[in-house]
Order: sequence, then C-alpha cells, then structure tokens
Amino acid sequence: MNRNFLNSILFIFILCLGWMSCYTEPHVNFNNEPDPVSDCPDYNPTPYVIQYPHSGFPDMPIPEDNPLTNEGVQLGRKLFWDPILSADSTLACAGCHAPSAAFSDPNQFSVGVQGIEGHRNSMALFNLGWNPKFLWDGSANSLEEQILNPVPDPIEMHLQWKDAVQRLENSPLYDEAFNQAFGSCIEIDSSYVAKAIAQFLRTMISGTSKFDKAVHGNGSVQLSDEELNGLDRFLNDGLFDGHCQHCHSFNNFFSNFQDLYRNNGLDEVASPYDFEDPGLGGVTGNEEDYGKFKAVSLRNIELTSPYMHDGRFTTLEEVVDFYVNDVKSSPTVDIIMQTDFLPNGLPMDEQGKSDLIAFLKTLTDWDFVNDTSFQSPF
Ligand code: HEC
Ligand code: HEC
Repeated sequence: MNRNFLNSILFIFILCLGWMSCYTEPHVNFNNEPDPVSDCPDYNPTPYVIQYPHSGFPDMPIPEDNPLTNEGVQLGRKLFWDPILSADSTLACAGCHAPSAAFSDPNQFSVGVQGIEGHRNSMALFNLGWNPKFLWDGSANSLEEQILNPVPDPIEMHLQWKDAVQRLENSPLYDEAFNQAFGSCIEIDSSYVAKAIAQFLRTMISGTSKFDKAVHGNGSVQLSDEELNGLDRFLNDGLFDGHCQHCHSFNNFFSNFQDLYRNNGLDEVASPYDFEDPGLGGVTGNEEDYGKFKAVSLRNIELTSPYMHDGRFTTLEEVVDFYVNDVKSSPTVDIIMQTDFLPNGLPMDEQGKSDLIAFLKTLTDWDFVNDTSFQSPF
C-alpha cells in the first residue's frame, strides 16, 4: 500500500476525531455544582485545567459531583502513592500500577499484602476519564466506584475502610489536605478518598507517543515504512492482514468503547460456563457474556507486559502469534474471530508480524511514563 493512501487514512482519522469531539459532554459549570461540598464557606479550591495533548482528544466527561481541582488532584496523587491505605502499610496503589509499566504491573499476578496472588493481571492506567467501564470483567461503572475496591480487597490492600479513614483523620498531612480539597464541612470517608484518587487518575492522559507526533505534529516526526506497513496490517481485513481495528479501534483511544467486552478466542470450551474465568458473564449472569473481557487500549502496549486478563503472554510476538495461528473456538467467541481468524488462522508472514509490532510500538508514550506530575510526591 502506498504512502498517499496511508496519508489519506490518517487524514480521515483526524476528521473522525473532530467528529468525536462533537459528541462529548461539556465541562461542568463550576459555580452550579450541586454537590453539598460547594456550599461549605471555606470550599475554595482552584479548578484544574486539563491539558489535552492535541486536538484528537474530545473534552473529558467529568462527573458533576466531582469536578477536578488542583487540591483534589494533589490529594489523589498522595493517596495513590501512599501505603497508608494497606493493612500493613507496605502496599500503595502504585505498588501494582508502576509508572515504568504505564501504571500496570510487570508481574503476571500482583501479590497483595497478605502474600496472596490474585488471578488477574493488573491493568494499565491512562486515559481512563473517557472509559465507559472498568476492570477486565466490567464490574465497575465509574472510576470512583472502582477505587473503592482495592483497599478492602483481601488479595489487594486488605484494610477495612473504617480503619483507613481513621488513619487519615489521625494524620496531620491528610486532615489539612482533605480540607483544602473538599472544604472543612465534610467528614473524611471512603467516597472522598475515591473522589480524590479519581481526580488524579483523570489527569493521567497519554497522547504524546510517536504516533501522536506523526499525526498531530508539525511534520518533524514521521512513521517509517515498516511502521506504516504495520499500520496497514492493523487496519486491514485482507488475507495477510491483522484485522485488529475491529476491537482496538483506529480512534484516539485504540479501544472500541461502543463494544468494549468481547471474547477474542483465548480458550477452547464446549459450554460458556466452562471458562476458567467467566469474565463479563460472572457479572451479568448472561450466557452470551461468559469468556468476554475488556478489549483494552493498545496505547503503551509495549510497556504493559504480560498480556491478557491472566497475563498468559509475555511478549508482543506471542500475542501476535496467538492471533495469527492459535485463536480458539468457543460458544461466545466473537463473530470477527469466527469469520476472519477461524478455522485456519491468518496467513500473515513474518515481515507482516514484525511490521505490525513495529507499529504497535509507535503507541508508546515516553513523555507520559516519565511525567513527574504522576510520580511519587513523597
Ligand atoms: C495488589 C495489586 C493492586 C493494588 C494494590 C491496586 N490495584 Fe488496581 N488493579 C489491579 C488488578 C489485578 C486489576 C484488574 C482487576 C480485575 O479486573 O479483576 C486492577 C484494575 C484497576 C483499575 C481498572 C482499570 C481499567 O482499565 O479498567 C483501576 C482504575 C485501578 N486498578 C486503580 C487502582 C487504585 C486507585 C488503587 C489504590 C487504591 C489500586 N488500583 C490498587 C491490581 C492492584
Ligand atoms: C474480536 C475482537 C478483537 C480483535 C479482532 C483483536 N483483539 Fe486484541 N484483545 C481483544 C480482547 C477482548 C482482549 C482482552 C482479552 C483478555 O484479556 O481476555 C484483547 C487483548 C489484546 C492485547 C493484550 C492487552 C493487555 O493489556 O493485556 C493485545 C496486545 C492485543 N489484544 C492486540 C491485538 C492485535 C495486534 C490484534 C490484531 C492482530 C488484535 N488484538 C485483534 C479483542 C480483540
């Protein structure tokens, strides 16, 4: 495929991004906040101004009862990095969400404070403000909701919320920080901890990869022929192509938010109830949801090994070999996998595979992982 054609695809991509931005909710009007926090006489934080890396980012939808403020974001950053929220004060959120791994965990299964291994691989944390659902199985509908989970979870931080709250109340560092973020009329509780951390996570925006610079920059960064050929493999549905964009969409997020939970054919089972991990089915109870997991963003994918909900693959080469040769049949396997990948796999040659991986690596955002505003404040 020639460069002109690819350039026109990139142009269409930019148009699509423009279109997407028409569909997002406007920023919350700070003065009309219905949250009781705002009625407190000394609630006077500074609104946080989101810096979007480029025009491809639509405005981030912000919940009305949790506007971003500088004080809230800074409090959330402290809480994210502080082991105070774990039973034995050894494990912070960052312990399983490390910056160098795009805020995921290089271990297959993270080990909680009790030394118990979970059964799922930690997830990367970026651009979460736009995600409609959270966790591999979709069991959390908002960031605030998800953040309530890890603290009391016995395989994670294993601290009762009431004990966590007491620790924070007794800490001079936090008492003042909560007052600054939410006013002095509130009692600290788990919902304010979750709100502050959610504010911090919403500021973790990744959009300065080589790919972003090539598409939105001034022309000084360009994709190589190999990377452009890999993009072609990613996008196309031909015989020697990867068919990837159906689920990891060619949009700014490299994720399909309309149809986020799918079965990409990792395991062969006869009945939907036989999956070792039921995924979305374990949450909804619907037969057709068993074996479906979040088709996560492919941004920063070079850094988030191991791969899949159970971390079964260590390298991107293994992942691509799986898609090319080893997709399995099951009652809930995605229609795309049935029509495009099964029964004989994709006849993608070695050059195609390595070009596809070269393209995926253009999505690595070193500016994001090295951004000091997301690192430990301690
Ligand atoms: C013991 C390791 C561990 C700790 C500690 C931990 N997490 Fe996680 N995190 C995980 C794992 C594993 C998953 C995926 C779990 C699943 O899907 O069942 C995850 C998923 C998430 C997600 C969902 C991301 C997405 O794309 O859906 C968010 C958000 C998150 N964690 C935030 C936090 C925050 C905030 C804290 C601290 C309060 C925290 N985590 C502490 C291991 C951990
Ligand atoms: C039918 C939808 C679908 C298609 C097509 C698809 N994927 Fe996926 N992909 C998924 C789902 C769902 C997951 C998560 C699966 C799980 O963990 O159980 C996933 C996971 C991944 C992961 C691991 C993500 C992580 O953080 O662990 C990579 C890498 C990946 N896909 C790359 C690709 C590439 C490259 C292609 C094209 C060759 C492709 N995918 C095609 C649905 C799809």
